[in-house]
Amino acid sequence: MKMRKRPNILLTGTPGVGKTTLGKELAQKTGLTYVNIGDLAQEGQLYDGYDEEYQCPVLDEDRVVDELDEQMEEGGVIVDYHGCDLFPERWFHIVFVLRTDNTQLYTRLENRGYTGKKLQDNVQCEIFQTIYEEAMEAYSHEIVHQLPSNSPEDLEQNLEQVVQWTEQWMKEHN
Ligand SMILES: Nc1ncnc2c1ncn2[C@@H]1O[C@H](COP(=O)(O)OP(=O)(O)O)[C@@H](O)[C@H]1O
Ligand SMILES: [Mg+2]
Repeated sequence: MKMRKRPNILLTGTPGVGKTTLGKELAQKTGLTYVNIGDLAQEGQLYDGYDEEYQCPVLDEDRVVDELDEQMEEGGVIVDYHGCDLFPERWFHIVFVLRTDNTQLYTRLENRGYTGKKLQDNVQCEIFQTIYEEAMEAYSHEIVHQLPSNSPEDLEQNLEQVVQWTEQWMKEHN
């Protein structure tokens, strides 16, 4: 029996823009598998050292890629991570960069308990559109899309748009 082909989707963007919220709902609606890279690294202790400045472990990118490669080859995975140039280009059929206005993002990150330099740096990351530029360098421009992520209405619209894209992709590839 041949499995239906399913696309791989990357959800990326500055911490706090809403990747996890969108990714989990998307997985429910599409039946694709949601993978949070932060959780995966934590579970498998896929770390390589410790960042003293940001007080967090450093991802072992090679081991993360090895860990996921087989599943990505099969397809049907939604990947959630605040970076994107560590993954092989061939993994993804589409890349969504979520974007949030900086005042909103500031509040969300404050609510998450971020303070000081960590808070400032993350808001600046969004202002400078660092992740969008990273995505445009790492992937073909045609597959990189920005999604506004400021309100519950944005979330609904993004869900609808990505669900539709997924259905269309499956029609075209099966
Ligand atoms: N479209 C949205 N509108 C308003 N709040 C949102 C939206 N998307 C996410 N949030 C809220 O913002 C916070 C961060 O969302 P989260 O999904 O954890 O972001 P990320 O995974 O990108 O760090 C959460 O409190 C979430 O409820
Ligand atoms: Mg998250």
